[in-house]
Amino acid sequence: MRIVSGIQPTGSLHLGNYLGAIRNWVRMQDEVAASGGESLYFLADLHALSQPHDPAQLTANTREMVAALLACGIDPAKSVLFNQAQVPAHVELQWLLNGTARFGWLSRMTQFKDKAGKNRDGVSAALFTYPVLQAADVLLYQTTHVPVGDDQKQHLELARDIAQKFNNDFAHEDAPVFTLPEPIIPPEAARIMSLRDGAAKMSKSDPSDMSRINLTDDADTIMQKIKKAKTDPAPLPSDKAGLEGRAEAANLVGIYAAMAGTSVDTVLAQFGGEGFGKFKPALGELLTETLAPINARFVELRADRAALDAVLRDGGARARELAAPTLAAAYSALGLLRG
Ligand code: TRP
Repeated sequence: MRIVSGIQPTGSLHLGNYLGAIRNWVRMQDEVAASGGESLYFLADLHALSQPHDPAQLTANTREMVAALLACGIDPAKSVLFNQAQVPAHVELQWLLNGTARFGWLSRMTQFKDKAGKNRDGVSAALFTYPVLQAADVLLYQTTHVPVGDDQKQHLELARDIAQKFNNDFAHEDAPVFTLPEPIIPPEAARIMSLRDGAAKMSKSDPSDMSRINLTDDADTIMQKIKKAKTDPAPLPSDKAGLEGRAEAANLVGIYAAMAGTSVDTVLAQFGGEGFGKFKPALGELLTETLAPINARFVELRADRAALDAVLRDGGARARELAAPTLAAAYSALGLLRG
């Protein structure tokens, strides 16, 4: 088993990233290490160029994010942890795959359509070719499994399509260049929604900080945010069906279940009939219990910039080694002479 996944260095992590992806990365890192496989996790700093960005901010965000991942439990002794820019093979393979990816495939990417909106002429070419870089990220390492949130499923399917077409067009049937990766979407990575609006995803870009729990929030802030979270006046139902049409209530119960590692029905069996006056403090406590130690580690790690850079540098060196054979095979399959 070879696992690869990436996350954009947007600065600090929030609960949605944690429950949707990072907690699963940590879990998989241990499983994969136990079975003799390998996991690679990276900060997708090259992907950040697809939208307007401030260079100094990108550097700061990259360091902040690696500190957050380490604080959450990613262990450089078990996983290869790096930022994309340390491994030029990602960019090289992207160009090689640009010859295989079809314009129409990229035009149908919902994330591109959402982000470009009506301004297609004004967005960067990188926003359009973003999914090809993502395909390169994964295909470069003969990845078998990609743990991602639900919103990345379409990008993963594209990576498979590109791999399949490249293998068909340029490789021998019995010696494919690329492995077709499978997504792993954790079932309980229930989409974590905004605390202010049960219809919007919890997001770093929401202007209201009250809409999300950041991994950098202290216990008081977390309690405050949960107490102020939008709800409705009815008590909690005693089963899942009773949450229908109650997006905010469903979100809070979903967060509780995900944090406690249990099902929504189990949470409702405990809290059904109770009002939010009782449920919210319980949820706040559960959150602080898990997040406080992460927060403490994060604050400590963030202070040692040289140590963070060393983690990325070492991880980058290891990733370059792992990437080399597949990159060479791709050049060769395409008939490109080197050396
Ligand atoms: N596009 C992903 C996101 O926004 C991040 C990402 C980049 C990624 N490359 C990847 C995820 C490769 C998995 C595999 O979340």
